[in-house]
Amino acid sequence: MDIETKVKDRYERPTLSLRISITGRCNVNCVYCHHDGILPQKSEMTPDEIYQICKLAKMIGIEKIRLSGGEPLIRKDIVEITEKIASLDFKDISITTNGILLEKYVEELVKAGLNRINVSLDTLDYDLYKYITKSNKLEDVKKGILAASKSGINPVKINMVVMKDLNHNEIDEMFEFCKENNIILQLIELLKTESCDDTDFINKHHYNINELEEELENKADTVKTREFMQDRKKYYIDNGEIEIVKPMDNTKFCKNCTRLRITPNGKIKPCLLKNDNLVDIITPIRENKTLEELKEIFLYAINKREPYYKS
Ligand code: 5AD
Repeated sequence: MDIETKVKDRYERPTLSLRISITGRCNVNCVYCHHDGILPQKSEMTPDEIYQICKLAKMIGIEKIRLSGGEPLIRKDIVEITEKIASLDFKDISITTNGILLEKYVEELVKAGLNRINVSLDTLDYDLYKYITKSNKLEDVKKGILAASKSGINPVKINMVVMKDLNHNEIDEMFEFCKENNIILQLIELLKTESCDDTDFINKHHYNINELEEELENKADTVKTREFMQDRKKYYIDNGEIEIVKPMDNTKFCKNCTRLRITPNGKIKPCLLKNDNLVDIITPIRENKTLEELKEIFLYAINKREPYYKS
């Protein structure tokens, strides 16, 4: 299926990727966390249920799977989950992790079929890391990142949420660390959603990424726009790569969004920023509904997709 023939929503957006939050549990507690847009919840899906969801996703033409959380590596069955998904032959399986347990798992995950890794890391400063995450495991994260970059997995990216007066002056340093280790730096705008715990923090530290983009534009040897990746910009500078993720009030971000999400308790979530349009898929799976019926539920959820920021 090429993009022209993919299942599209009412706004002509194809659905190309599925982001599955496999657990709400986490081993850090980041001050800004939006919990992947989900209010905290306890129940989780089994590896087999996750596999069944991916099988349906494959049937409707989804090409890429990303595992997230919570912290996905907290699940003891993460390798089994990855293996099961990999057997479905997606174009791409990736994971977003805080990196604390990455050194332990990276080789097994690559063997299981993982293609890409994003590690959330906002600072290389121990005190600031502790302030942001309430954890003192920065050393483990760094080890995890180095292990990932040596594992041959390509690309490894660092997700750095840019925060005014906290780490916005640390971008150059982080970029140097990335270049040394053959890692792409992804700069993310601090986002306020209804699932964030501390909205005062977010108001205080929101940093306007536009200024930064101008600076990067001047420094870059080449700039590329990733059309089917929410129109994200990529800047190539001194043999390194910086990508910008700027969702807030960004109509282009929404216009080019091709994602669907799954919550830890098995609901299809049509938009990161909305919580009032979830569609239960796990109950019908547990009730052994037919593939055709389950596929219809997926299509119904896709039909509910609409841009959060519209022009
Ligand atoms: N704003 C921006 N990004 C966030 N993340 C979590 N909460 C927020 C927020 N409020 C992102 C981080 C992390 C990923 C799991 O989610 O970039 O890498």
